[in-house]
Amino acid sequence: MTTTPKPKFKNPRAKFNYQGRPCSISGVGSYVPERILSNAELEKLVETSDEWITTRTGIKERRLAAPGEFTSDLGAKAALKAIQRAGIKPEQIDLIIVATITPDMPFPSTAALIQAKIGATRAAAFDLEAACSGFIYALEIGQQFIMSRTYETVLVIGAEKLSSIVDWEDRNTCVLFGDGAGAVVLQNRPNTHGLLTAVMGADGTKADLLFMAGGGSRCPATTESVASRMHYLRMEGKETFKNAVQAMQTAAEEALRRCELDITRIKRIIPHQANRRIIDAVGDRLGAKPEQMFVNVHKYGNTSAASVAIALDEAVESGSIQRGDLILLVVFGAGLTWGAAVIEW
Ligand SMILES: CC(C)(COP(=O)(O)OP(=O)(O)OC[C@H]1O[C@@H](n2cnc3c(N)ncnc32)[C@H](O)[C@@H]1OP(=O)(O)O)[C@@H](O)C(=O)NCCC(=O)NCCS
Repeated sequence: MTTTPKPKFKNPRAKFNYQGRPCSISGVGSYVPERILSNAELEKLVETSDEWITTRTGIKERRLAAPGEFTSDLGAKAALKAIQRAGIKPEQIDLIIVATITPDMPFPSTAALIQAKIGATRAAAFDLEAACSGFIYALEIGQQFIMSRTYETVLVIGAEKLSSIVDWEDRNTCVLFGDGAGAVVLQNRPNTHGLLTAVMGADGTKADLLFMAGGGSRCPATTESVASRMHYLRMEGKETFKNAVQAMQTAAEEALRRCELDITRIKRIIPHQANRRIIDAVGDRLGAKPEQMFVNVHKYGNTSAASVAIALDEAVESGSIQRGDLILLVVFGAGLTWGAAVIEW
């Protein structure tokens, strides 16, 4: 008589015969600090004008975190809203991913700090750095854990306190950025496709277009590095602009192509909110109608990894996205990095 040999170990991943499942956004939330910094106030800080900022960028105002308010505070507030809207408890969260370039500290991760602040006691936590593209990178990574059935509930947050790395003496950059956070809860929702595809890309040969030189292993903080203002972000505006338009168009078209979708089938396009002119140029190149583009850059400026997450929350809140709609997110940032995602909402 032959007996089946006892397996030497168990492979937990075999439980569902390696079959994947779709991943949906079951809740979205955002938070921006109360303090509004208007273009008129910036006129008092640097040689600029409301007229210049408005015509070149479309930005009218941005938010500033309070002195004792950090990226983890903004992220935690956005997360709690997303958790409440998803109808879950913080203890249900298996994993927290925070996309940010302005972590509270180099380590521990801002994700770990948020884990403690929201009481997500069971959750693993880590940060991800893909600059302004971070939210789509984090969405795609979080999606993998749901699809593979490794986890049931993943919290993805984009949170930034960019006011802490903006050079308030540099008119080329200080008018562009703001603080804020957005968050989504990822889960499997039966009978919904959720995230259909996500394109991610990078080109490190153009890293010098947008960077912060100080504070890393190449240039740790010294009195000299501080004196030469290396702990502030620097940007080559014109080149960044051109690359942004091109990369966002290419990424969006690739995402649509993969889903065999025409732009007319997309209810709402939520682009990274860096500059109104970039948004308009990307919309034009994609052949989108102006009413398809969701825009809130006038209120918040560029909030980097938080940008599309905040815009997504506002689009849902305002009713411009309904369950069942197809939406397209498209981002661009330092690295260079870019990304696009198609979602059945
Ligand atoms: C920064 C940006 C708004 C500048 O707009 P632009 O149309 O390229 O501006 P221009 O290069 O034509 O004009 C620059 C001139 O305006 C001046 N300028 C720059 N900032 C100014 C400000 N806040 N107020 C007034 N003048 C300003 C510059 O000194 C320069 O003057 P000069 O020609 O005498 O040297 C634009 O390049 C941009 O949005 N780039 C992409 C930024 C971005 O999205 N970054 C993040 C990507 S995630």
